[in-house]
Amino acid sequence: MGKQFGIREILKKNKFIPIINFTDLSTVEKTINHLMSNDITCLEITLRSDIAWDAIELAQKIKPNNFKIGVGTVTSISHLKKCKFLNVDFIVSPGTSPELRNALNDYNIPFLPGVMTPSDIISGLEQDWDTFKLFPFNLAGGMKALSTYNSVFPNVKFCPTGGVNETNYNDCLKLNNVLSVGGSWLTENIK
Ligand code: 3PG
Repeated sequence: MGKQFGIREILKKNKFIPIINFTDLSTVEKTINHLMSNDITCLEITLRSDIAWDAIELAQKIKPNNFKIGVGTVTSISHLKKCKFLNVDFIVSPGTSPELRNALNDYNIPFLPGVMTPSDIISGLEQDWDTFKLFPFNLAGGMKALSTYNSVFPNVKFCPTGGVNETNYNDCLKLNNVLSVGGSWLTENIK
């Protein structure tokens, strides 16, 4: 599998990456069903609640084969180990450290590392990575940052998240260095 174990292919197939912080296990199934009924076949579950791992395990059990479960807010090697154990489909980190960068290369799971600055991107390029989460999109400079990075790093592609919403996602997706967009706005108000 190519760079980052195929994350670029996952992003190309999934223009929208819904992000959710589950706080109630009873909402896992209906969230997946709701997304499927809107032709969305992936979900990033963040590690920001006490029940996050239980929600990931449950989602893995009930999801259809063609639905991908990603784990977000991955910030440590112990998170990576647990992702491997649960056989998740992809990993998203808000940023990286030298230790995390080395480990991500070893785990054989598609991963989307977070970047905010040119130095972050260069640290990723040094790993031979070319696909990043621009996070937080709104604090990193939004559309202007994406346009500037397009000329400075022409081979790099992004999935912006953090402040992407229904008012700006379309503009993001029009940029040729944006493969997909992510955000919690896609999982809000699921009844
Ligand atoms: C992320 O982890 O990417 C963000 O928390 C999502 O940000 P949003 O809530 O602004 O979409």
